[in-house]
Amino acid sequence: MRVYKEKDYNAMSRRAANIISAEVIRRPDCVLGLATGSTPTGTYKQLVEWNKKGDLSFAEVKTVNLDEYLGLEPSHDQSYRYFMQSNLFDHIDIVPDNTNVPNGMAEDAAEECRRYDELVKSLGYADLQLLGIGSNGHIAFNEPDSCFRKETHVVSLTENTIRDNARFFASADEVPKKAITMGIGCIMAAGRILIIASGANKAQAVYDAFCGTVTPECPASILQLHNDVVLVGDEAALSLLPEEMFK
Ligand code: F6R
Repeated sequence: MRVYKEKDYNAMSRRAANIISAEVIRRPDCVLGLATGSTPTGTYKQLVEWNKKGDLSFAEVKTVNLDEYLGLEPSHDQSYRYFMQSNLFDHIDIVPDNTNVPNGMAEDAAEECRRYDELVKSLGYADLQLLGIGSNGHIAFNEPDSCFRKETHVVSLTENTIRDNARFFASADEVPKKAITMGIGCIMAAGRILIIASGANKAQAVYDAFCGTVTPECPASILQLHNDVVLVGDEAALSLLPEEMFK
């Protein structure tokens, strides 16, 4: 595992964007696994800038997103489809049909989960999977649990996640209570994992994930079993990690 400790959010974003762009340059038709939330917005901004400058092209790239709220229209400004359009897809040369986000409005959510698993499998899984981490150690919306769920599934969001995400909504009551999330199986099948973390409120989760026991109580801890993980964080988020991890 490789760890990059960057001095602040901007440096973290630039480093993460560099790693993604290296993948796209090396393999122009790669499959990128993408995340939403406040952590990757700076990374996406940097990628947009390089695309606009003509230094980086997404013309052949395919993407698969990790998750989507159940019951939000793609046009809802808090849906993850909307997030991806406004933070990345609308500003780069990606082919719209090559972008994939679970359909939170599917009539049959279980069927949508099966469809999404098949889709990700048919693309050969992500070459590079970008992840954020929840303050409770979740990855995608795989919440702390008594077992790891392998496949894409519908999840009930924990109180902790609803509280964390309430900042994007008018109130906590408006945060959807359920979401569709890629399971641990698809995430672990990615060729390479790039996990990014920013801020002191992520420090304990990052420590538990990479220095603690591998347990579904901290879903990100499963990444200890993946053989190509890059962790990029700012000083605050990585403050609890021992020095030897940065060598
Ligand atoms: C989003 C996702 C989540 C977030 C996590 C951190 O697609 O899968 O796991 O990465 O909740 O969110 P932020 O970045 O908002 O702190």
